[in-house]
Amino acid sequence: MLTNSFTGETAELIIDGKGYRLPIIMGTEGERAIDIRLLRAQSGYVTLDSGYMNTGSCLSEITYLDGEKGILQYRGYSVEDLAEQCSFVEVAYLLVNGSLPTRDELKNFSHMLGKYALLHEDMVHFFDRFPPNAPPMSILSSMVNSLCTFYPEMVNNPLEKIDKMTARLISKVRTVAAFSYKKSMGHPLVYPRHDLSYCANFLNMMFDSPVNPYEVREEVVRALNKLLILHGDHEQNCSTSTVRLVGSARVNLYASISAGISALWGPMHGGANQAVVEMLEEIYLNGGDYKRYIERAKDSKDPFRLSGFGHRVYKTFDPRSKIIKQVCDEMLNALKLSDPLLDIAKEIERVVLKDEYFIERHLYPNVDFYSGIIYRAIGIPKNMYTVMFALGRLPGWIAHWKEMWDDPNWRIGRPRQIYTGPKLRPFVPIDQRSSA
Ligand code: ACO
Repeated sequence: MLTNSFTGETAELIIDGKGYRLPIIMGTEGERAIDIRLLRAQSGYVTLDSGYMNTGSCLSEITYLDGEKGILQYRGYSVEDLAEQCSFVEVAYLLVNGSLPTRDELKNFSHMLGKYALLHEDMVHFFDRFPPNAPPMSILSSMVNSLCTFYPEMVNNPLEKIDKMTARLISKVRTVAAFSYKKSMGHPLVYPRHDLSYCANFLNMMFDSPVNPYEVREEVVRALNKLLILHGDHEQNCSTSTVRLVGSARVNLYASISAGISALWGPMHGGANQAVVEMLEEIYLNGGDYKRYIERAKDSKDPFRLSGFGHRVYKTFDPRSKIIKQVCDEMLNALKLSDPLLDIAKEIERVVLKDEYFIERHLYPNVDFYSGIIYRAIGIPKNMYTVMFALGRLPGWIAHWKEMWDDPNWRIGRPRQIYTGPKLRPFVPIDQRSSA
């Protein structure tokens, strides 16, 4: 149960000479916030915070991050420890349930993931109706929304069946992702197998073929586990806030997650991993002159930005990007691969970290800067990179939806606005109107 941590202290806001005392609350890691929930009722004022730069939308026990110090923790565990020691399935369990699984709990959860991996065959036919070039993120969002039509019993009292829904979603989203790839290639579908782990199963569904059996390599499975863990949750980012906001209207989990997938699609958010590789390819094909692109990114008249740099919250290294860079090196070495895009990426990072423009604005590589190069090495096509992000983020979205649903202080999400349009004016009949 989420508890308000009132410190007993207050902040005083003075408007037109009148003082309003606002309670100060504190999180477990010492974060302090001014509780303005009663401000409008008491003073008639609302607050304005476009882009939610400074607004806490909820209390949450799932993820702690400190953007100034580059700290990221899930349920109190550092992401570095989790990436080093756990499988993605363990971390998914941790995010959704709040504690690391025991051996028995992990066995049971893994068993459920195996049990629910198949899609209803009628759903499989949906894939035949999408155009061949349909973006996989669009397919993923539609298919996840459709799940509630096949599993409607999940909708009425969701928290009673949350374990089942969680396993269904985490397992089936992986199958949807792999099937959408196979369909886009015009290749036969490869069904999930009970004997393979979560990540190995995904890789096998993606790349196995009747003419070319796929060898699941341990190095690739390890890299994929780490990538998914690092994407597991990131507190109130755009897609997670979307899941919470949509879910706050008391809509079912599948519809809420489908909305989150749509939010993640954007190039300013999860779509950045694809944008990074496209940018690196363009630089490579244009002779490798990355410095020209860095100069463009600094030009205020040019809308171009260096994809994979900057973050709303991190004003130092994104801790995930450090691990991902290491995973990238390890995996390419293990597979004895080299990639000119990785060389360009490292050069860009080296130059940018010494450049005043980026230093002044605290722009560091983010989680997306190296992840696309790993996906490329695995053989995942560019338009699937953001789908991979969604696979990793899914347990985080589910955890937030569950926490929001269970919160005794739950209210439907409904921001205010400051109206700046025309004042009330007389209605003009159509034949008396002139164009503006
Ligand atoms: N390249 C060049 N300049 C940049 C970049 C960049 N990647 N990112 C920010 N800036 C500049 C802005 O132009 C602005 O400069 P100004 O003060 O001279 O106007 C300043 O840095 C601050 O930028 P904002 O857009 O105000 O920062 P905000 O916190 O709103 O945006 C964002 C964060 C969207 C991530 C931004 O850094 C960006 O567009 N990065 C590239 C896209 C990207 O990699 N997105 C993935 C983010 S991680 C994730 O969502 C999983």
